[in-house]
Amino acid sequence: MVAAGLAVSIDAVGNIRGRRAGRESLPPVFLGSHLDTVPEGGNYDGSVGVLAALEIVRTLNDLNLVTKRPIDVVNFSAEESSRFGMATIGSKAMCGKIDLATLHRLKDQEGFSLYESLQANDFAPDNIQQAVLQPGDIHAFLELHIEQGPVLEQKNCPIGIVTSIAAPTRFKVTVEGRADHSGNTPMALRKDALAAAAELVLGVERIAKEVSKNTVATVGYLYVSPGAMNVIPGRVELGIDIRDISMENKDKASSAILDLIDMIAARREVVIRQEQLCDDVPVRLSGKIISTLVDAAETADINFIRMPSGAGHDAMNMATITDVGMIFIPSVGGISHNIDEYSRMEDICVGTDLLFDTAIRLAQE
Ligand code: GLV
Ligand code: MN
Ligand code: MN
Repeated sequence: MVAAGLAVSIDAVGNIRGRRAGRESLPPVFLGSHLDTVPEGGNYDGSVGVLAALEIVRTLNDLNLVTKRPIDVVNFSAEESSRFGMATIGSKAMCGKIDLATLHRLKDQEGFSLYESLQANDFAPDNIQQAVLQPGDIHAFLELHIEQGPVLEQKNCPIGIVTSIAAPTRFKVTVEGRADHSGNTPMALRKDALAAAAELVLGVERIAKEVSKNTVATVGYLYVSPGAMNVIPGRVELGIDIRDISMENKDKASSAILDLIDMIAARREVVIRQEQLCDDVPVRLSGKIISTLVDAAETADINFIRMPSGAGHDAMNMATITDVGMIFIPSVGGISHNIDEYSRMEDICVGTDLLFDTAIRLAQE
């Protein structure tokens, strides 16, 4: 960003912004995404959007073109929930959706809090209020992202214009049974926390399928203690992630899962506790920006479809304070959150061209 001549600032939670000044000091157009990833993740989720945003300002520099509004390249911090269980922490903070108490409450596997982690990296978490932007502070936000699914590839289409974003509802669940000897404890006398958790895992899968064809629910991790071949598992922690573009479907799935938890706990005589980590609201993206994207794509003769996003994005938080648009490009094989994640450079270029054309239109308003 510095090399591209941008004025760089970093806020209390580590969001990085680089500003290219406009002719007038109006609210800027934000372009960007995130650079963090998931364990064993790929190279394209998020990074493509940040690099494309940087490419837009470099191109403007090459063309000696000054837009009416400033353009800010943004890298949101901690978009993935890899370490603290909560997704899109940077954009949530920017939109006033998390407070200092949350920074203290969120802990990683080692019990290290988000607050401590920010301090250890020389950020100023106590100033979280200063990271908050108000409606009107930004003119628009555009995010280019890989699709992370198979639809564009199957339709042989280079661009998806995103209409809505499914947001996660998440629970951290702890099953407390009783650790015991695997040889001497008769089957009828066990309180096996992992067997109880296994019922829950399969139940989560069944409930998602029953609620609707768009509902997805995942148990993405299990921590089994003490984790030895000859010890009946005494304790299991697991994470449930539920997504849908309909809040009603997510609510249905959540309450069915909570009922199932009560049933398993009662029948197996184990204690199951759950903590809701988030209940994010699915978002419809701005009709105005969708029209601008459609018009820019048609003008440039770029083939596109309109589509929802199953994955969460910083765009869903930004939509609470400004007009937001998202551009998807194809993921080869539909694979993402996997080291094999790949998007072809020719598709990245088509997406970046559309980002450029749309960003210019918005920055000239
Ligand atoms: C972001 O990658 C998400 O979990 O949707
Ligand atoms: Mn991701
Ligand atoms: Mn992403």
